[in-house]
Amino acid sequence: QKLNNFDMVIFGATGDLAMRKLLPCLYQAHAAGLLHPKGRILCVSRSQMDTAQFLAKVQSDSKIHVKKNFTDALWQNFIQRIEYLTVDVTQPAHFEDLSQAVKARTETDNVIIYLSTAPKFFAPACENLAKVGLNADNVRIVLEKPLGTDLYSSQQINTDVAKYFKENQVYRIDHYLGKESLQNLLPLRFGNVFFEQVWNKDFIQSVQITIAEQLGVEERGEFYDITGALRDMVQNHIMQMLCFVAMEQPKSLNADDVRDEKLKVVAALKPMTSADVDKNVIRAQYTQTAEQKGYLQEHNVPTDSKTETYVAIRAELDTPRWVGVPFYLRTGKRLASRTAEIVLNFKAQDNGLFGANANRLVISLQPDETIVAKLFVKQVGSGLDVQPAEMVLDMGKVSDERRAEAYELLLREVIDGRLNLFNRRDELEKAWEWVMPILDNWANSSVKPYGYIASSWGPKEAQDLLARDGNAWLEDQ
Ligand code: BG6
Repeated sequence: QKLNNFDMVIFGATGDLAMRKLLPCLYQAHAAGLLHPKGRILCVSRSQMDTAQFLAKVQSDSKIHVKKNFTDALWQNFIQRIEYLTVDVTQPAHFEDLSQAVKARTETDNVIIYLSTAPKFFAPACENLAKVGLNADNVRIVLEKPLGTDLYSSQQINTDVAKYFKENQVYRIDHYLGKESLQNLLPLRFGNVFFEQVWNKDFIQSVQITIAEQLGVEERGEFYDITGALRDMVQNHIMQMLCFVAMEQPKSLNADDVRDEKLKVVAALKPMTSADVDKNVIRAQYTQTAEQKGYLQEHNVPTDSKTETYVAIRAELDTPRWVGVPFYLRTGKRLASRTAEIVLNFKAQDNGLFGANANRLVISLQPDETIVAKLFVKQVGSGLDVQPAEMVLDMGKVSDERRAEAYELLLREVIDGRLNLFNRRDELEKAWEWVMPILDNWANSSVKPYGYIASSWGPKEAQDLLARDGNAWLEDQ
């Protein structure tokens, strides 16, 4: 079970992600006894401080995010793995110190560089790492999202990184790939006889993919307003969910075989013209209520912002398996509940005995990890009339093993050098290619986003989008 020995260098170590996720998740792996005893974490950032000062910051800003399995002894033991070094990514001289530090104590040749910085620092960081040899074959580089803001900037980042690192050294993070219920779609579909035969246009009427959040934009107004839901969630997280539900069986479970199949899904998404965008994409913003602020009232959001906090899309895949099946994709902030789920609505079957009954499969990634099949069963009493019932598989009850957070699982994969749960360049750029007409349409449009009441299920127009096809979102079914 134990992972390989490693040296992990975290750039942007004083930042939010490192404090809230990376260090707490590494702690969890440590507490579970998974980290190699000699594995160490070299935290770097621009701030001038020494290891003691950095650890004081970790104590105040990161420890509070360790919500489980905390003991003082384990924590003390964990932080001994951490060292701090001041590195300004734009200063080549600082990389000499970094290289010294990596070489000085290292007893492994498994070096991981985690760039938890703004993407504008990726290129100088990679160039300076290469100058001191920290791009050799034993080095892996982890890139945190957002990887660009459109196709062109994403290509630029990938091209810059590729000057110094080979593709199989690059680990592009999408934390949804760390969610086990998403990964579980592979064994569910291809490791059972139940599903695969009916997992296609002949039996499935429509597919819905939802990531709903209850929170608003919180303190991230500045970032969010130049980002919006399409870039923040659809181009990446929703796209990954789509890939797993729609892909063909991969030749093997090797990273590239799986990623080849995912790429084919994204490439098969029907491109949209601007008229298609008008018809098939709904963008909206949450509006003010007596209890809650609207998006335009949030801190650091311009009062005339057109940035979407909600998007719903009717997409189609041009593959023999899926042709003609609508895929409804949606995500939003300040919605009625926190949910990430995939819904397969099966076609109603009527063989003349029990009426037209439509089965449904709901695969939930959160808040609970469940798979729920809607079946039709005999009503209690005389006769053979049927009624709907649910068959529930609660993934939380399948095993007593500790379930790790997405980031921990991903960090463990990086340490052991498995690329399966990371995006390849071509997948990511294809996804950008598909969303570009939507971004372009919005950029050129003077039409304002629709409004939706905070804590509702989104705008009425998103219901209409499905009603047009005679369909309804899960909560309205
Ligand atoms: C991040 C987005 O990638 O995913 C956030 O930037 C969003 O805006 C988050 O809140 C959602 O992740 P999860 O795992 O809570 O669904």
